[in-house]
Amino acid sequence: MSNFYNIPLDDLKNIPSVPIILRKLMKILENSDVPIDEIVQVISLDPLLSAKTLALANSAYYGASKRIVSITQAVTRLGTSEIKKLAISIYFGRMFESLSLNNLTVKRFWTHSIATAFISNRIINYLIDDLSVYTAEKDQFYLLGLLHDIAYLILDAYLPEKVEIIINALERNEKRGLLQTEQELGFFHAREGANLLRFWEIPDSIATPIEYHHTPSECSGDFSMRAGILSVADWISNHLEFSVFGRQEVIQRDNLFWKKFQFSKFSEEELDNFWEDLKSQTLMFLLFSESIIDLRR
Ligand SMILES: [Fe+2]
Ligand SMILES: [Fe+2]
Repeated sequence: MSNFYNIPLDDLKNIPSVPIILRKLMKILENSDVPIDEIVQVISLDPLLSAKTLALANSAYYGASKRIVSITQAVTRLGTSEIKKLAISIYFGRMFESLSLNNLTVKRFWTHSIATAFISNRIINYLIDDLSVYTAEKDQFYLLGLLHDIAYLILDAYLPEKVEIIINALERNEKRGLLQTEQELGFFHAREGANLLRFWEIPDSIATPIEYHHTPSECSGDFSMRAGILSVADWISNHLEFSVFGRQEVIQRDNLFWKKFQFSKFSEEELDNFWEDLKSQTLMFLLFSESIIDLRR
């Protein structure tokens, strides 16, 4: 049986479950040449997803000129990768709506998650090698970014006093950092998050990189590069002040993976310009996401 912070997951009252429609969509979209009809069929099962798909296809972000009125046209315009991102954002957003949070806000949390998701998609273009492999996996990276810190949401809903301890330590501005505070609590959000994801039957290709997103060098096998890219994206997201706790969390940058990106060779000035650009692009994407997904709280 899976645990969350030593508590059996089945004992956590009203723990969210993954909606059947999301599982169905993730399965269908795993296959890159799935017929459009099949996607349209699943989307049409849910009025909210249908409406958002149409809205997205008609949004200025996609340079809409001709008005789109059918789901089939919308899916054709957006492509499967965008549909997947949209569905995942909506359903995961919705899945946690009923949690009552104590120290965190849903908005703050999703801002960090969506920013990390967006940044991971952007930085893949700066990889020194393996570019094509990881570009093909962009929507997987989006999902990794979205879910990597999910354990904090559950921790704040069920054991808020632990989150308070973390926040207090950060407020005291202790240089020992977030992970050391967690170690003292016997809680490691990356590992607990991976346990949750496995409990929700999310595949290992997502759960394993999340488990190692702060210790990517310890991840062996197929998913180590994914864990490394995610860890760099997470570090950048914090560096650009999109952090979960609303202040710069002291997390370590993994230099082994950092060196795999072209920007590791930028001069200080080039790097500053790069951050500025990336920050404004991320802010634009966050605004756009907020208009599509409701981040009400
Ligand atoms: Fe994290
Ligand atoms: Fe994070």
